[in-house]
Amino acid sequence: HIVAAHSGAADLGGYRYYMQKEIFEQPRAVADTLLDVNSIMPELFGDGAWRVFNGIDSVLLLACGGSYHAALTAKYWIESLAGLPASVEIASEFRYRDSVANPKTLVVAVSQSGETADVLGAVHVAKRLGMVNTLAICNVPTSALVRECALNFMTRAGIEIGVASTKAFTTQLVALFLLTLTLAQIRGRLSDEEERRHLHALRHLPDAMGKVLALEPQIMGWSETLTRKENILFLGRGMHFPIALEGALKMKEISYIHAEAYAAGELKHGPLALVSDEMPVVAVAPNDRLLEKLRSNMHEVSARNGRLFVFADVDCGLVSSPGVSVIRLNEYYGPLSPILHTLPVQLLAFHAALARGTDIDKPRNLAKSVTVE
Ligand code: G6P
Repeated sequence: HIVAAHSGAADLGGYRYYMQKEIFEQPRAVADTLLDVNSIMPELFGDGAWRVFNGIDSVLLLACGGSYHAALTAKYWIESLAGLPASVEIASEFRYRDSVANPKTLVVAVSQSGETADVLGAVHVAKRLGMVNTLAICNVPTSALVRECALNFMTRAGIEIGVASTKAFTTQLVALFLLTLTLAQIRGRLSDEEERRHLHALRHLPDAMGKVLALEPQIMGWSETLTRKENILFLGRGMHFPIALEGALKMKEISYIHAEAYAAGELKHGPLALVSDEMPVVAVAPNDRLLEKLRSNMHEVSARNGRLFVFADVDCGLVSSPGVSVIRLNEYYGPLSPILHTLPVQLLAFHAALARGTDIDKPRNLAKSVTVE
């Protein structure tokens, strides 16, 4: 790692930037968030959660920024594992549009700070419309959002200083996965054996994350090429599409390289027109059932001289070749794979920004907590 040049930065723990420190703290943050989780049960979300969860027929997730991408990932999990209809809305959109309220919807507000004005505004609107089953997933216990919502789950990322969210994001994903399992259990879709298997995977997640973070030197190598580009396209499919979105967000926030993410199936509907040797494409390509589909999207990029940078998994059959660089994670981590695949896109953005010499912890024009509209 890059070590701080002077000793004044004691709380940086030897890192040069808070964002870098926070990226490497993620295994600890996830372990802390799971500290009291010995089994899947509604009480993890507060007193009375069973009664609330038992009476709902759908989930509406509200959030902004990176937290919105965590919420998007949860939609895939909730519909697939709990069998409940789930929708996700950008809080600033929900609060100002006419929506059809369903009192049986569980409203889940996802926010690191719990002070984002649009998230608070959206929860107020939901409650005014009669949607009183509210749950906050938040990193700050004393926040306005936690006070506002009937139920809560606190992530234990610890104070996050870097404006670009990292450890808050992965711990939000852990919290949302626990919510998914709890809803699945209440709906009779989680056997004891499945509960045991998921808890086992969660407990080993910090170790698995440590192995992914060890890929930093390879990722740093890629950033040398990417940092010279002005545009980057991120692609992903299924529950990794939100991770592509998160990768593009980190990239533009801190490196100021223009980056966009597309669901890979949308490539042909527009962005393919932009692909050239000047427009590198980063693909989030885990070894899941969508890999074959993604592979054909990657061929479409190669055929147009697009340079591909692929985050894949071991045993996926993808290898580096001219124009295609592949970094493989040590294992495919099932439904929790989006958490592992978040780490390389964070590191890629960090190293691109480092090479560009930007103010990584305080990107221009951005604030850590957006408490005004
Ligand atoms: C700001 C931060 C982002 C964060 C977003 C939502 O834009 O820079 O990192 O994702 O706000 O913040 P919240 O505290 O509601 O998660």
